[in-house]
Amino acid sequence: MTAIEGSVVLVTGGGRGIGKALVEGLFERGAKKVYATARDPRTVKDTRAVPLALEVTDPASVAAAAEQAGDVTILINNAGVSMQTSFLDSPVDDVRKDFETNFYGPLLTARAFVPVIERNGGGHILNVHSVLSWIGLAGSYSASKAALWSQTNSLRLDLAPRGISVTGLHVGYVDTDMTAAIDAPKSSPVDVAAQALAGIESGAFEVLADDLTRQVKSGLSADISVLYPQLVA
Ligand SMILES: NC(=O)c1ccc[n+]([C@@H]2O[C@H](COP(=O)([O-])OP(=O)(O)OC[C@H]3O[C@@H](n4cnc5c(N)ncnc54)[C@H](OP(=O)(O)O)[C@@H]3O)[C@@H](O)[C@H]2O)c1
Repeated sequence: MTAIEGSVVLVTGGGRGIGKALVEGLFERGAKKVYATARDPRTVKDTRAVPLALEVTDPASVAAAAEQAGDVTILINNAGVSMQTSFLDSPVDDVRKDFETNFYGPLLTARAFVPVIERNGGGHILNVHSVLSWIGLAGSYSASKAALWSQTNSLRLDLAPRGISVTGLHVGYVDTDMTAAIDAPKSSPVDVAAQALAGIESGAFEVLADDLTRQVKSGLSADISVLYPQLVA
């Protein structure tokens, strides 16, 4: 169990969307200090947060953030991108960008911050996955989030004996810039953030933040046609 009260948290992509809601929720729960990262730290508007420059795909930027935020006890890997790729038609560079940001970004930050969190007596990592980790409907975004889910599961095993708990957050559409062009029911970032932070405090391995996500997860052990009915239509 990791208490948020009194903790020092770093939220990647903490200036907008789900990250901004996470920063607000952390202060509501009594976090002592919250680093909110953005590629341009001037875009972080919450005056309670410590703005920090971070490009998660750049090892030097990650190392600099870990140097500056040496008091972190909780790392939240929220930053992500959705390149809307088609595996057959999109530039391979777009496929790589989904993986660089959504898989290698959290990997670089985990490697940089695990020693920091350990030095500070242990703590927690929350990785923001997606319902699309479990259903391949969004090209390389789905694939990168499936890979991140697997990374999270491995890290959880590695880090448990080192005093660091790991939670994965899965959710469907959330009302942020990422889904601005999508006309569908969306969860509120504040509600998703509240569930994620409750998951950190309860030591949940996974947080499934909406009905669609719970439904998709429950279909994973069924025949493939249950999750992909279009194959048998
Ligand atoms: N919205 C949804 O429906 C939904 C559903 C499931 C999961 N998610 C996941 O939730 C997380 C947050 O997404 P969101 O919906 O809040 O999206 P968003 O509003 O588009 O925000 C994306 C965030 O990621 C940061 N970011 C992107 N690329 C980065 C990079 N290379 N280096 C550092 N920061 C980078 C952005 O920082 P800047 O401010 O510097 O651009 C921004 O803060 C993502 O991991 C996303 O995949 C979203």
